[in-house]
Amino acid sequence: MQQTLSIIKPDGVKRGIIGEVIKRLEASGIRIVAMKMLHLSKAQAEGFYSVHRERPFFQSLTDFMSSGPVVVMVLEGEDVIQKYRTLMGATDYRKADEGTIRKDFATDIEKNVVHGSDAPETAAFEIGYFFNRLEIVH
Ligand code: CMP
Repeated sequence: MQQTLSIIKPDGVKRGIIGEVIKRLEASGIRIVAMKMLHLSKAQAEGFYSVHRERPFFQSLTDFMSSGPVVVMVLEGEDVIQKYRTLMGATDYRKADEGTIRKDFATDIEKNVVHGSDAPETAAFEIGYFFNRLEIVH
């Protein structure tokens, strides 16, 4: 059984589509095993996205991610990393498949509604960044 980290980003929370994202997760058979809402500081957003610190969009991304509350979740299921990435669609919503979360709701390559881990090693780091063992149900 695999786990991945999901974030509903500040644009998704502001636009009132937390329920829509969760509905799609549950409809696809993905289990939510941890969830909380928090408002990241700039430093916390920088720590989370530290792999991107050399990228030109790093400042703008971490400003955006600390601009309002987010919902973070741990998702569990067979092949859930890939399954959730398929539900989200491509990072750039203009390239995302029809029916994906980003195609339906994203407005910008940065303001793309959701985040999902891209591999087991990043999932382990990202889950540990937000949750301790007691906060994840078994
Ligand atoms: P996410 O999946 O959270 O991973 C890194 C984030 O950087 C990405 O979604 C976007 O929100 C943001 N981003 C902004 N510009 C780019 C870009 N040119 N390429 C990739 N990600 C970008």
